Amino acid sequence: MQTIKTVAELRARLANEKSVAFVPTMGNLHEGHIELVRMARERGSCVVVSIFVNPIQFGPNEDFDKYPRTLEADCAKLQGLADVVFSPSVDEMYPEQQTLFVEPPPIATELCGAFRPGHFRGVATVVLKLFNLVQPQVAIFGKKDYQQLAIIRQMVIQFNLPVEIVGAETARATDGLALSSRNQYLSAQERTEAVFLSQTLISVKNALAAGEVGFAKLEQEAVAALAKTGWQVEYVAIRSQDGLCVPEPGERKLVVLVAARLGKTRLIDNLEVCL
Ligand code: PAF
Repeated sequence: MQTIKTVAELRARLANEKSVAFVPTMGNLHEGHIELVRMARERGSCVVVSIFVNPIQFGPNEDFDKYPRTLEADCAKLQGLADVVFSPSVDEMYPEQQTLFVEPPPIATELCGAFRPGHFRGVATVVLKLFNLVQPQVAIFGKKDYQQLAIIRQMVIQFNLPVEIVGAETARATDGLALSSRNQYLSAQERTEAVFLSQTLISVKNALAAGEVGFAKLEQEAVAALAKTGWQVEYVAIRSQDGLCVPEPGERKLVVLVAARLGKTRLIDNLEVCL
């Protein structure tokens, strides 16, 4: 496995690779990321993992500075799984001030986008740059960031990018909490309580599976249940899987999405529901 920090070295290393499978990450790798890398291994003869905490997807009051940077431990976890780890500096990725951006689709201003203005513009921009650098045939993203995955799928279609996007199931702890680098911000007490987030999604999923069609009521009940146990809820939303729009009556492929804060930690999760 080679760790590469510059664009020039990366381009030279990948010049003759015909089948590159790519996993973009911000590092601090957990089992969920490793699963994405295993999926990449099955899909390409050269597996590239990027590790880059992308400043332009963080808002001014967000956790860019304290986001865990654990490159050495990450590389140890990738030994034997990845062929190339690309971990550029901010200056390498942004050699001049970034004044051109990918303008993401309207869905980027809803759900997480309503609470993190500019976030998806930053994500789409860096992912496009990474695709240009790595030129993968396939790229793997976790469904945990469902809205991000939907926006990247739209970007790939609308910009005619020659890359197949694969969505991977969310990896969970044994109690159901979705794995996330941000889980480590939780205190021991909060970590115990955090399971209520996925339990709330399961309750909504069960109600939908039982034939409940009052989506707004289900969303409000879920918000109230979370708020009662100390969560500051940003949203609970039932959307169609395809494009994340508000579902038409009779829509059968749904996803329930949530974003909420426990103490100072903002967590997101979602569950697909096929009726
Ligand atoms: O999901 C992430 O870790 C990031 O948003 C990504 C896709 C690596 C872009 O910085």
